[in-house]
Amino acid sequence: MRKSLTTLAVACAAFLATSAFGQTPEEVKKGVEQYREMLELGNPAELYALKGEALFKKKRGPKNASLEQCDFGKGPGVLKGVYAEMPRYFADTGKVQDLESRLVTCMVQLQGISEKDATKRPFGNADKPSENEQLVAYIVSQSYGDPINIKLDNPKMKEAYEIGKRLFFYRAGPWDFSCATCHAEENTRIRLQDLPVLSSPAGAKAAMTTWPAYRVSNSQLKTMEWRINDCYRQMRFPEPNFISDSVIALTTYLAYTANGGVYKGPGIKR
Ligand code: HEC
Repeated sequence: MRKSLTTLAVACAAFLATSAFGQTPEEVKKGVEQYREMLELGNPAELYALKGEALFKKKRGPKNASLEQCDFGKGPGVLKGVYAEMPRYFADTGKVQDLESRLVTCMVQLQGISEKDATKRPFGNADKPSENEQLVAYIVSQSYGDPINIKLDNPKMKEAYEIGKRLFFYRAGPWDFSCATCHAEENTRIRLQDLPVLSSPAGAKAAMTTWPAYRVSNSQLKTMEWRINDCYRQMRFPEPNFISDSVIALTTYLAYTANGGVYKGPGIKR
């Protein structure tokens, strides 16, 4: 922990004390930015990462093995910088995978855990985080400071990118919404939150360099799979299955658009 949770509480109290009504939108925006900076000093995501590290190194499953030999794309056992290059194509599965689906592959292959068990509880709650969230927090923290670098150097990667892009602009559901309805116009906001323009490099970078993130409003660490799922829920679409090809395609599109952004996660959100 860089700073204690007490620091976090003090920072929040200070923010609340100074955020009065009657402020201009610019002042509100500045206030929210200040609040984020203060929160970064004591990001509870670090607690998730610590638990994730222990879980990663623990021998488990029918094969009584740890996840330490998992190959996230840079060879078995390498964690440094791997998240900054995901989703990527994996020859052993013949698929484009994001971090969360690759973790499932390793639990199945290395630990002998069934896919059903490995995907049983991907998202936790404030009382009980999920193992997926803890493992994700640990692995992404090993890419802190690394530039996002998604390569469309494989036909499957190109395909995932194209499908992701189409899904981003695909309108349907009871409100005829697409992701672009909320995320492709400058200066849109919902409940004080600026909605990032995710189809532009600047907006995609801001989002993809700070997710997964600890969300103060949920008191939980949330993963990228969750983020996209929750936006589909807001759009009143049927929620996609965990690690579905469509969510991975969307993530590929967003991550590629964010290429060059320096990864700073796990982040912290309101
Ligand atoms: C009804 C409006 C709406 C739609 C449609 C929508 N989102 Fe969102 N999205 C939000 C809101 C609200 C947030 C939270 C903003 C915040 O808390 O800063 C958000 C946040 C995000 C973020 C994180 C941004 C960041 O910088 O933290 C990503 C990534 C994202 N959405 C992706 C998507 C994708 C992909 C789709 C389409 C499947 C989508 N959204 C559709 C409203 C929407």
